[in-house]
Amino acid sequence: MNDLTTEVLSPDAASFTRAAALWADGGLVALPTETVYGLGADARNDLAVARIFEAKGRPHFNPLIVHVVSVEHARTLVIWNDLADRLASAFWPGPLTLVLPIRDQAGLSPLVTAGLRSLAIRMPANDTARGLLQTFGGPIAAPSANPSGKISPTSAEHVMAGLGGRIEAVVDGGTCDVGLESTIVGLTDTPILLRPGGLPKEALESALGQPLAQHTAADPLVAPGQMTSHYAPGAKVRLNATQKEPDEVMLGFGNVDCDLNLSEAGDLREAAANLFHHLHALDATGAKGIAVAPVPNHGLGAAINDRLQRAAAPRD
Ligand code: TXA
Ligand code: MG
Repeated sequence: MNDLTTEVLSPDAASFTRAAALWADGGLVALPTETVYGLGADARNDLAVARIFEAKGRPHFNPLIVHVVSVEHARTLVIWNDLADRLASAFWPGPLTLVLPIRDQAGLSPLVTAGLRSLAIRMPANDTARGLLQTFGGPIAAPSANPSGKISPTSAEHVMAGLGGRIEAVVDGGTCDVGLESTIVGLTDTPILLRPGGLPKEALESALGQPLAQHTAADPLVAPGQMTSHYAPGAKVRLNATQKEPDEVMLGFGNVDCDLNLSEAGDLREAAANLFHHLHALDATGAKGIAVAPVPNHGLGAAINDRLQRAAAPRD
């Protein structure tokens, strides 16, 4: 299914109106957020949501995140609580997704939650994303705008390379500031970190005033999308490398000899913003392997290492 002409829209009011019309018509429009580009569709429209799964080749048991423009809108979809209030006032809009019990009257397609009684919801900070959501006026379901299992997109070019011809449009808002997907926190029970991401765990714990439980590989059903192999480039990824082998290119961090450096200064924010961009670029060289220098595991480093471990995991 590669027979559509994908429109590339600029981030202005006319494009917001165009994108909203496409969404209202059941179309798929990719949009920039501060984390990664999302593949958006009207979360209330069964057919449109089904098309997200089809375009990405995504397993139907993997639920989607719904994007809203305000806490008031979020509260109409999920059963809100005090912890959600505390985290949303500290970090929304921003790279944080909250999982809360879904309301019976939410009116969303059941495909969005893959049949779960909970809903993952977030309010993005990116101005273009906010303009689009405001103009559309409804909930937008949006997974990352990449073919399932591949590297996430941090530019409109990445989206076109992966999904061009399968979606109606992409809004080109430039490069994503954070460069890593949102941090996902489950609030249906004891607060739990379901996915490390663009907001460091340390920041969440200080806002909550309590440590977050952490999801482990032993309970895979808690975060159904946390597949071991994910973010996979065509090249084989080798972690904690000190130098490259003859058939490899090298991704560095800090003061190391390499082909592309996540951050020469050893800055984890800069490294996060560069991660998917550099993986796309190194993969495009056609090298057999990508050697990756060690990245410290604190702050955003935890999410960077999570993505790198999945990129390096054995593939099915
Ligand atoms: O930054 C982001 O979060 C980006 C942008 C586009 O917003 N979106 C994103 O979506 O990363 P996706 O589909 O690639 O990842 C969504 C994750 C999956 O791991 C999925 O399993 C999990 O969210 N998820 C969705 N609904 C859930 C729920 N009700 N309970 C637990 N996990 C859920
Ligand atoms: Mg994804």
